[in-house]
Amino acid sequence: MPLSQPLVDLALSLPGLEGAAGALAGCFDAALGALGPAKQPVKDVLNGTWLGHPAHPPITDVPVGAWTAALVLDLLGERRAAKVAVGVGLLGAVGAASTGLADWRDVANERPKKLGVVHAALNVTATGFYAASFALRGRGEREERRAVALAATGYAIAFLSALYGGELAFDLHVGPNFAHNASPPGEESDAGPLDDVPDGGMKRVEVNGYPVLLTRRGERVSAIAAICAHQGGPLEEGTLEGEVVQCPWHGSRFCVTDGALINGPSAYPQPAFGVRVVDGRIRVAALEPL
Ligand code: FES
Repeated sequence: MPLSQPLVDLALSLPGLEGAAGALAGCFDAALGALGPAKQPVKDVLNGTWLGHPAHPPITDVPVGAWTAALVLDLLGERRAAKVAVGVGLLGAVGAASTGLADWRDVANERPKKLGVVHAALNVTATGFYAASFALRGRGEREERRAVALAATGYAIAFLSALYGGELAFDLHVGPNFAHNASPPGEESDAGPLDDVPDGGMKRVEVNGYPVLLTRRGERVSAIAAICAHQGGPLEEGTLEGEVVQCPWHGSRFCVTDGALINGPSAYPQPAFGVRVVDGRIRVAALEPL
């Protein structure tokens, strides 16, 4: 059995995770709610809507990289430089925590919800060790030795936490683009009769097995992926206002004409299709390979 499996099983068997998840989500919602109208723009920044990719993975490189540098610098006896690296890591940890929390907040399934709590608790613990290490540095040889030991312990905890972070992303699918779960039609393909799509409305069809959302205004038809890129929500069950469809699950909004992302939590736009109407039938083709 791979090493990670018993560690994940152990984490998920911890008591109180459900209650902790509820409390954490409540705190996050209260903090966001206090921002008033800035709530959505701030959430978009944290989710990575501006980046076209979840912001959490690249930001975690800051504390992980800085603390790895601190570990090496401590081993080399470069204490002043190590203190700077520990401090940079602490700043990066704030960004990593807030972006990770924003992604985790919209997770619905129980396993990633619970594992996310363990991941967060370990990261907070590691950050606490580094904060204590930072405070002790520059206070004489005895305190320096304690600071190095605290940092090394924090590194081990952060390493374990990173394993859980990988499990969340790669096994439990927090963060990937769900619209890429199937291959879209590359060649122009039939998507059914124009009359099947209500004027001013939308309809989901399968084109070569790929779910496509058709919207229509008179003779003008648009087509984007019907599976929400965020976590797979069915866009045809959402709401259509003008040229904007809103996902029913977490409220991401996309332009139906080109799939552009208007607001998160999705960090990805929707794949869009070229559309032609030929002899009363709709024909779609992917605009670019996925
Ligand atoms: S599935 Fe989350 S916004 Fe669509």
